[in-house]
Amino acid sequence: MNFVPSVPWLAIAALASPLLALVYNWRQSEGRRTPSGPPSRPIVGNILTIPRRGAWNLFAKLHNQFGDLIFFHGLGRSVLVLNKLSVINDLFDKRGDNYSHRPVLAVLGGLMGLDQSMTMLPYGREWREQRRLAHVGLNATVVKKYHTTQEDLASIMLLDMLNTPEKFFDHVRLYAERIILSVTYGLPIDVADNEYVTQAEETMHIISDAMVPGAFLCDLLPWMKWLPSWVPFQREAAHGRAMIEHLVTKPFEHVKQDMSQGAAAPSLTQDLLALSDDNAQLFESRVKWATGSMYGGASTYATVLTFMMAMALNPEKQKRAQAEVDNIVGSDRMPAISDIAQMPYVNLVIKETLRWHPSLPLGIARRTDHDDFYEGYFIPKGTVVLPNVWSISQKQNEKYDPTMFIPERFLDPSEEITDPFTYVFGFGRRVCPGKALAENSLFAAIAGILSVFDISEVAPGELVPQFGPSLVSYPEPFKCNIKPRSPAKASLIERRTGQ
Ligand code: HEM
Repeated sequence: MNFVPSVPWLAIAALASPLLALVYNWRQSEGRRTPSGPPSRPIVGNILTIPRRGAWNLFAKLHNQFGDLIFFHGLGRSVLVLNKLSVINDLFDKRGDNYSHRPVLAVLGGLMGLDQSMTMLPYGREWREQRRLAHVGLNATVVKKYHTTQEDLASIMLLDMLNTPEKFFDHVRLYAERIILSVTYGLPIDVADNEYVTQAEETMHIISDAMVPGAFLCDLLPWMKWLPSWVPFQREAAHGRAMIEHLVTKPFEHVKQDMSQGAAAPSLTQDLLALSDDNAQLFESRVKWATGSMYGGASTYATVLTFMMAMALNPEKQKRAQAEVDNIVGSDRMPAISDIAQMPYVNLVIKETLRWHPSLPLGIARRTDHDDFYEGYFIPKGTVVLPNVWSISQKQNEKYDPTMFIPERFLDPSEEITDPFTYVFGFGRRVCPGKALAENSLFAAIAGILSVFDISEVAPGELVPQFGPSLVSYPEPFKCNIKPRSPAKASLIERRTGQ
């Protein structure tokens, strides 16, 4: 599917954009050379060749043809795709002042109101304040206090898999969401499940779809935001706005109320609200939006499912990882997050999972703040810049096929395989603030599954890896056998969860 789905819309876009296109052409005529890209047409340029979904597949093909930088332009917009880690680091890290903004999304940011959240805020004072709060509440030392919560929730997920293995997608999704709701707001499972999980899921779908630059024609032609409220996208935007407002405000108010009664469970929100600030009203709103930006569970969910698919397809790797887990935990206990350093092979399996199919194959888009030159190429102000994580993870290697699941590739001193932790969580100043928490969630779930279950294909050769085309790319629904490795392992889980 293209940026703009239908011909009438294309016509409107073409009519509405000549001024912007003229400005663009004027820039070109100044003789500044932009990076190359697919052939372009008048006014619309080549920007409509970018698919709205799963664009990383096209970019991977174009990488061979156009190299490390691919440029798209048209309708007064420009998009730059970066295919190489050193280039991404040069721009996002070393030139962070220019490359740390987010695209201005008229619908998701303006109309739906998400432009107050850390993830969407432009690089500036408010973003810095929210990042500071996130660092206070989620740095690698502080998140140790959530180990027990994460381990408890992992055990509940394992018990659910024991009882209804065929619903493993649901169990993993709930695990990831419960961690976020529990860590951020201290919500007990029953409250989280009954009042917030479904709402959070629906809202995250809306956000994830709308976050792709160009998801709405209005993002290309911002004047459309003045169109009347009965226009379909306005109705969609109003619905999104109500959902986001609810998602960010309701659990936050829940914590405040519990705090006023002295009954709040430990949580990130409580920790941050306890910090004092001169301007209490502004500070409270800041905490609300900082904590409301923490719905990063989708990537954890996608990664654990990807791991399960990889295990079903690679029984030898699974056996090797299980042997390591057994060696450390014996038969009397479940793995704990504090075992992480003792399980090097499990850590390689996690790395290989993140590399084999990164959950955010195009990261989260950035925007340039001002004109720039890189390696002789002109990069205009306002360019949307996409880090093509997919092309880094799938870099061709003569010894190790990038499409195969081979954790051992990271141990080979004769090969230079980049550690996926240096790219799947983002870059520079906007690197994922939930990284330390997410690493622990992945370990608790993955070591736990390895400890208790054998995962296998339903029939040999039946499982063909396929992944969705959204911003967060999940495995497409698949079937596998999930069987307890022994009755003792099954009863260990039952004891651990008090069943
Ligand atoms: C496997 C799990 C996760 C992965 C792979 C992941 C990956 C990412 C990536 C690629 C970015 C974009 C960074 C950039 O622009 O360079 C990001 C941003 C972000 N992540 Fe995560 N994430 C994960 C889990 C989490 C969790 C659990 C949380 C919250 C507790 C979280 C909160 C955020 C926030 C708030 C941002 C926006 C930061 C900003 O714009 O300044 N993430 N994440």
